Amino acid sequence: MLKEPDKKIEKQAKLIRKFKKMWERSQSDLCEVRGSVIHGRGVYATADMKKDDKIIEYVGELISKEESVSRASVQAELAAQHGDAAVYIFTVDDDYDLDGNLPWNTARLINHSCEPNCEAWIDKTRIFIHALRNIKKGEELSFDYGFEVDTWEEHLCRCGKKSCVGHIVSRTQWKELEKKKAEKHAWAIITKHAAKKIPVAKKSRR
Ligand SMILES: C[S@@+](CC[C@H](N)C(=O)[O-])C[C@H]1O[C@@H](n2cnc3c(N)ncnc32)[C@H](O)[C@@H]1O
Ligand SMILES: [Zn+2]
Repeated sequence: MLKEPDKKIEKQAKLIRKFKKMWERSQSDLCEVRGSVIHGRGVYATADMKKDDKIIEYVGELISKEESVSRASVQAELAAQHGDAAVYIFTVDDDYDLDGNLPWNTARLINHSCEPNCEAWIDKTRIFIHALRNIKKGEELSFDYGFEVDTWEEHLCRCGKKSCVGHIVSRTQWKELEKKKAEKHAWAIITKHAAKKIPVAKKSRR
């Protein structure tokens, strides 16, 4: 039987092996990190690619939804302190998420775009970034973050594409987004006119 210190070393060695494997899986010759024109750092193609090509794996720790909620709020709080909103939690399925907040997980730095050139393919509990169309060497990689429309006001989009809707919201919810934007605009006009019409009470001279 292993002694207590040996058990500790064995545990640490297991963890190192796990991270080494994850690091190996996260490597790709097809892309690299550079300063982004969209936001902070981004990931750029280092070779021409064909539609559907596998580019890189989004690696991370598989966590339950409960753990995910708690980690996401910690990550969001830290990110807010640095003036951005970077959260690296990726939805896998109804039960699990992947926490990709690891320095060697290059794919975590891929930015969102309203006209993305990549998409995420989920294979059981693993996530792979594939080309959505042919990509030229030097292009910034992007995918649709798929954010819910309910949080549209919290996430401004600066992808700079012709079809940019101004907010990071899943393309599948763009119709709802347009409705929400129109409602907000209408409210702004109504409240502006209402403010003009409310008579200001005159001071009585007694
Ligand atoms: C997972 S990080 C991506 C890497 C990020 N550029 C960085 O340097 O850390 C996600 C964050 O990047 C920013 N971001 C990504 N795509 C964006 C876009 N299209 N417009 C504006 N900000 C974006 C947002 O702050 C978002 O919460
Ligand atoms: Zn956009």
